[in-house]
Amino acid sequence: MTKVAIDGPAGAGKSTISKKVASRLGFVYIDTGAMYRTVGLKAVRCGIDTTDAEGVTSILPKLDIDIRHEGVEQYIYLDGENVSDKIRTPEISMAASNVSAIPAVRVAMVDMQRKLAENHDVVMDGRDIGSFVLPDAEVKIFLTASVDARAQRRYQELMGKGEVVSFDEVKKDMIQRDTNDSTRAASPLVVADGAQVIDTSELNLEESIEKVVEYVRSNI
Ligand code: DC
Repeated sequence: MTKVAIDGPAGAGKSTISKKVASRLGFVYIDTGAMYRTVGLKAVRCGIDTTDAEGVTSILPKLDIDIRHEGVEQYIYLDGENVSDKIRTPEISMAASNVSAIPAVRVAMVDMQRKLAENHDVVMDGRDIGSFVLPDAEVKIFLTASVDARAQRRYQELMGKGEVVSFDEVKKDMIQRDTNDSTRAASPLVVADGAQVIDTSELNLEESIEKVVEYVRSNI
């Protein structure tokens, strides 16, 4: 099985690019951020403070997360409900960042992620895929962009969905999440050994996809 690991900060275009790359290669796309988001949603629904490690850890044994694929689309289910859209709000983004710093949450998610990669050729995106989840991945990419470029993209995405947000708020959240994700003790965001850094600040979506596909094809 061939494994492509794509890591990088929030808003670098990882999900959109990884999905398209998977489709071009005929691989299964796995969005690991969606899993942490779903744990965040569950905690919020249970009224648990997402920074409370003990509280969040207590919901893990009963956690019912299911990943389904239709073509290249990944849908995520919580307790039998399709929550793929509900996990995309700013509130749940921050909840996801908080719960992802909790070691027990990471152990549970990493276990699911490794099982998903066992039987398929995959493009998996996240923060620790090349460094920890799939350290033997054939291809590792660290996709990044300037904080302004990333905040601008996320702002447009949220506005497009009708969310009422300000650019400054989106940028502030992004900086906060960058800090959380790269300074936490458990599997912080790092450039994995052997990863190719691709900066998409100056590239549009099509150019970014082309660049990644080209790199993957020449390395598998
Ligand atoms: O990629 P995303 O924005 O959907 O990820 C949501 C949060 O989950 C993000 O703040 C970091 C965390 N995350 C993680 O810690 N490890 C991963 N493999 C994927 C996401």
